[in-house]
Amino acid sequence: MFSRYRKNAEASAQPVRPSAVGPARHVSSDPLRAELAPRPAKQVAKPVAATPEAASKDEQRKLRMNKVKSDLHRRLLDNLNLSALDNASESELRSEINSIVAEALVEMDVVLNSEDRATLNRDLFFEVMGLGPLEPLLQDDSVNDILVNGPKKVFVERAGKLELTDVTFRDERHLLRIIDKIVSAVGRRVDESNPYVDARLADGSRFNAMVQPVAVDGALVSIRKFKKEKLSINDLVNFGAFSPEMALYLEAAVSTRLNVIVSGGTGSGKTTTLNALSSFIGHSERVLTIEDTAELQLQGEHVGRMESRPANMEGKGAVTQRDCLRNALRMRPDRIIVGETRGEEVIDMLQAMNTGHDGSMTTIHANSARDGISRLENMVAMAGIEMPLKAVRSQIGSAVNLIVQVSRMQDGSRRMMSITEITGMEGEIITMQEIFRFERTGIEPNGKILGHFTGTGLRSHYADRFKRWGFDLPSSIYDQVKA
Ligand SMILES: Nc1ncnc2c1ncn2[C@@H]1O[C@H](COP(=O)(O)OP(=O)(O)OP(=O)(O)O)[C@@H](O)[C@H]1O
Ligand SMILES: [Mg+2]
Repeated sequence: MFSRYRKNAEASAQPVRPSAVGPARHVSSDPLRAELAPRPAKQVAKPVAATPEAASKDEQRKLRMNKVKSDLHRRLLDNLNLSALDNASESELRSEINSIVAEALVEMDVVLNSEDRATLNRDLFFEVMGLGPLEPLLQDDSVNDILVNGPKKVFVERAGKLELTDVTFRDERHLLRIIDKIVSAVGRRVDESNPYVDARLADGSRFNAMVQPVAVDGALVSIRKFKKEKLSINDLVNFGAFSPEMALYLEAAVSTRLNVIVSGGTGSGKTTTLNALSSFIGHSERVLTIEDTAELQLQGEHVGRMESRPANMEGKGAVTQRDCLRNALRMRPDRIIVGETRGEEVIDMLQAMNTGHDGSMTTIHANSARDGISRLENMVAMAGIEMPLKAVRSQIGSAVNLIVQVSRMQDGSRRMMSITEITGMEGEIITMQEIFRFERTGIEPNGKILGHFTGTGLRSHYADRFKRWGFDLPSSIYDQVKA
């Protein structure tokens, strides 16, 4: 059967030139890519030996399918004219792959039931055109994070819970090939001499990989999937992440341009909260965002997004968050949002907050509001600024107005644990008052955490400011709520 997506017999007999087959990866001598090197067209499927471990029927079936899949994948790469694929529609490609697979199965004398064959066709399509075993997980909207610990362990996070999936890679080499496919698409490389990479995928997902020898037991991959529909303030209230009273308070705080820090552990919902809070920023305000990996999606009209950049292979060309921040200050911003403050940029962030860019926001990794302050102090010290502690504290005390603490709890739920205001300094101590908190009352037998949000009874330090700006919040929102 003739198809423009197949290499013809003569063409495949010719020595392979990179330009003739499209992507250069098919002729690379790189060990990561060796698997893709052309192989002799005729391959005879070897019978799959049942190993003692593969005792159960299911495992045997899986092993057999994996073997068939890997043979077929090789055949597909040998037979498909990859340079013609760029212009092909998805349905053309699927039917092409299905027909090559059907022919090959006959040739290999393998009989599959229709369900296995459909899975095989789908997996091979993903293998050739997508990210192989990761593709179904990337397409599954209920998955937030994908975490790969070597080729045989792929975890996902759904609704805040980590679960091991039955997705596996054939071997380390297969996993490396997929990693390579991802990073080369964004112009990066990962190999022994450059064993880790942080990148943003074409769809906006955040991607990090680390390979051997630094990753001891096989490559480690983490993907934070990009959500087109970001969680709004209403969504978060509906999910029970915080109360409507807290939402009202936060609206007043952001609208009246308090400087806010969202603090929390890794994956606790900091970026999500920051993004939701940004919806309270007036549409006419000029907002500049600075991130290592652009994740924020601000709704405003007047938003300028910046992304820092690591150094290239020669160690040149790095643009740090601090560089972006310094430059941003010359770009007449009304507010600056730094996705995460984790280093020397803290100096410029505090300065920006102290010098007329009220309403700026950032996130930090910390376990409580008090801990957050210590983190900021440490970051200042680590940036090499020689300043007495009292001076550092007074900088922080006057820069930051509000610390919002978020957390991912044992049951997987993400909640705002507290909203704390910074009220000033007493001697060398920064004074704070907690306005709202999550009161934990117990735990259900299934592990679900019970509790409720409550005011602490303290009225906001900024209540008058809110009022002056037209946010006359009822004092009842600060009341303590009994269980
Ligand atoms: N309240 C919530 N309810 C349900 N899902 C949430 C909630 N908050 C965040 N998420 C989801 O949890 C995941 C992690 O959130 P997010 O990226 O905001 O965390 P983070 O603290 O910024 O993580 P990191 O430390 O890796 O930067 C995202 O997929 C997000 O959609
Ligand atoms: Mg984040």
